[in-house]
Amino acid sequence: MSNAINVPLLDLKAQYATLKAELEPVVRSVLEGASYIMGPECGMLEKEIAEYTSSKFAIGCANGSDAILLALMALDIKPGDEIVCPSYTFFATGGSISRLGARPVFVDIDPKTYNMCPKHTREVARQCKRLKAIMPVHLFGQAADMDALLEIGREFNVPVIEDSAQAIGTKDNKGAPVGSRGAIGTFSFFPSKNLGAFGDGGIMTTNDQALNDKLSILRVHGSKPKYYHKLVGVNSRLDTLQAAILRVKLRHLEAWHAGRQKNADFYDSAFKAAGAKLSGVSWKADPSPLRIPFRPAAPARHIYNQYVIRVPADKRDALRDHLKAQNIGTEIYYPVPLHLQECFADLGYRQGSLPESEGAANETLALPIYPELTREQLQHVANCVVSFLGLKAGANVEAKTPALAGAR
Ligand SMILES: Cc1ncc(COP(=O)(O)O)c(C=O)c1O
Repeated sequence: MSNAINVPLLDLKAQYATLKAELEPVVRSVLEGASYIMGPECGMLEKEIAEYTSSKFAIGCANGSDAILLALMALDIKPGDEIVCPSYTFFATGGSISRLGARPVFVDIDPKTYNMCPKHTREVARQCKRLKAIMPVHLFGQAADMDALLEIGREFNVPVIEDSAQAIGTKDNKGAPVGSRGAIGTFSFFPSKNLGAFGDGGIMTTNDQALNDKLSILRVHGSKPKYYHKLVGVNSRLDTLQAAILRVKLRHLEAWHAGRQKNADFYDSAFKAAGAKLSGVSWKADPSPLRIPFRPAAPARHIYNQYVIRVPADKRDALRDHLKAQNIGTEIYYPVPLHLQECFADLGYRQGSLPESEGAANETLALPIYPELTREQLQHVANCVVSFLGLKAGANVEAKTPALAGAR
């Protein structure tokens, strides 16, 4: 029997419905203005993002992958250079390093936050012969340990590039927005991000005038003025239409973060009531089969680009199938850590090289968390997870729906 409640992983149609009236005149005005690439709205967005991220400068580009590539180019990364970064991340983190002929040197994660483990970062950095940068990722919308990683950067005299693709508005344990403390912060406006375009888009942040100037040139084939090329850059410009749409959406971003946090509160309390423990508590330490995301204390802020639970590896895919059968969308971020990707085989890693990253890849599952979710939808997700895992629902998880009767 199929359940009437449908909960996609993300519902951009629901978001668009709330923005339609605001967006349409803005889109029309860009169409009529006919300045389609790097038009005036791009500069305005750059100013607003610089302010939002407490950075001196923001430089728009075509997507978050290019933002990383351009950051590395601006820092003069050359073939053979080593960049320390996490393995448990989206491909672009390592792929952008490789595109320049440089070498990603993968670090394991802290299972509590799924972010780069500073202790392992230091160990790995020590073994590097041509270390040129450290690149943490603020995964799922939670900041990496910036104090510790900046300290390691200073120790090895290399810059820190913050891959903040999933984390616009995230704050670290000092309350600083991500992208504001490293040499360069890189962001993605991929539609699934908390601030998503209607297509591709990206931006880089920096407090350094020279890096700002270089990034601004590199994104337009290295030219300044037009047709005079100081550097060999790339074509990575932001569309005016995307910038105009993003400026409208930016006005709603804080409310959307708050909506996601409220939804995370709902899941947290439902799952805690059913006996879930925090990510980072090993299965050995506690046999309860569910882990919920660690939430950092203020002034840090998790923006929940993803709400990722963790279950024993032998239950994860079956849980996903079960949720799918109950019309609940989920995703596995990420099933194969970068050190085990086929294209990186020549780097010499093998199964077991980074056990925490491999464990997370086998055990994590992202649940719907977008701000437009209704209480009924949240309840449905919580019920289905709890009942599938054979947990006893707490007071705030309502009785099983009839469709769950046969569930494990
Ligand atoms: C951690 C991380 N880095 C980089 C990127 C690349 O961004 P884009 O898809 O805009 O190229 C993403 C996007 O999904 C990401 O999640």
